Amino acid sequence: MKLWAGRFGKATDALVDDFHSSISFDQRLFEQDIQGSIAHATMLGEQGIIPREDAEKIVAGLKGILEDAREGKITWQTDSEDIHMNVESLLTERIGEAGKRLHTGRSRNDQVALDTRMYARKACRETEDLLKELLQVLLDTAQENLHTVMPGYTHLQKAQPITLAHHLTAYVQMFLRDRERFRRAGEAADVMVLGSGALAGTTYPLNRERVAELLGFSRISENSLDGVSDRDFLLDYLSAASICMMHLSRFCEELILWNTNEFRFVEMDDGFATGSSIMPQKKNPDVAELIRGKTGRVYGDLMGLLTVMKGIPLAYNKDMQEDKESFFDARDTLVKSLTVFTAMLKTVTFRKDVMEKGASGGFTNATDCADYLVRKGVPFRDAHKVVGELVAHCLTEDKALLDLTLEELKSFHPAFEQDVFGDLSMKACVEKRNIPGAPAPEQVQAAIDSARKQLV
Ligand code: ARG
Repeated sequence: MKLWAGRFGKATDALVDDFHSSISFDQRLFEQDIQGSIAHATMLGEQGIIPREDAEKIVAGLKGILEDAREGKITWQTDSEDIHMNVESLLTERIGEAGKRLHTGRSRNDQVALDTRMYARKACRETEDLLKELLQVLLDTAQENLHTVMPGYTHLQKAQPITLAHHLTAYVQMFLRDRERFRRAGEAADVMVLGSGALAGTTYPLNRERVAELLGFSRISENSLDGVSDRDFLLDYLSAASICMMHLSRFCEELILWNTNEFRFVEMDDGFATGSSIMPQKKNPDVAELIRGKTGRVYGDLMGLLTVMKGIPLAYNKDMQEDKESFFDARDTLVKSLTVFTAMLKTVTFRKDVMEKGASGGFTNATDCADYLVRKGVPFRDAHKVVGELVAHCLTEDKALLDLTLEELKSFHPAFEQDVFGDLSMKACVEKRNIPGAPAPEQVQAAIDSARKQLV
């Protein structure tokens, strides 16, 4: 018989049981649910709301269930709706009458909100750790490539020379921001909501601060209606996850592109590529493609929950049970994606020679050529025009700027001197970009050092 069946004249239709049961997916909250109940029962005993001996029995019973559940010894009952009712029924089965006192001053509405917050706090910390590992790999690779020149792109057209370290530390900035977003999402989840009851608090003298202390929460919720119906903390997690997946996806897209025969900037390790069932020559970057694809799924989780929440009147409504599958799916997808991406990145070979060669083609030093003329006293707008004409000339001759002789250069503008040749080398172009944030090795080193400090 259902725990709430007192006022019902007949059993729930089998279709309904199947439709509204959440045990298949909320059983993963068992740890949080039991810890939450242990704290609640402890406080009930301390406050004299239930007899101390009962509180002790409950706590001991719950600890036993927790241990068994951790060892996978419990088969959750599908006819028992959700994890909360499963644990409560099992407790009463094991310890008898005292178990029936556990739910005093509590509702599943505040209970499920508590459990989900505890799980979200943990998920945020876990993601912060995964991001830290990824950032360390990125920083190590950047450190080794401070002087590896490569072309920087805008519009996927060669633009100006940069270094591989500079490119990689752009991703460092993105993942540092992601880490901060997960820290803040963890903070949003860090509110203890028990005591909200079904919606309107409770008549028992609960010590909410004590429960918060027992469960390691830093504050308690300040409105019981909001306590049971707030899922912003999950949306914070889901939006942080979506943005993080977007960053991973952009990185994957670049690796896929760089791995093409046309670019050849990277070589994927055999352990992180797959073959074709028909084309014997193929070695495909499936891992990167799949992360890019799974990004859509995490966005879907975010949009799903935003849409679930948008029309719900206060306070709890069953719609909110739909929060868990989106959240768990996004969490699992993100954890797997981050883990496999970091492992893959460690094994990627960057072809420095191809990158450096790529930097010299496509007139990536054209801006530097204009800047050279500016240093010789030519106004920038005039210098831009002269170099544009030079580029057009080189295109017809199939030459690079540095292939021209001084005489040829002088025929475009008399300000060109012998020193132009040293000035326009890729190395010089990178080294002269020496202001904070720019690709000069000294500046990238400073960015790496600053990132490492933030990672402690
Ligand atoms: N399984 C429910 C959920 O996940 C628990 C809360 C149910 N509360 C209720 N009054 N039906 O949201």
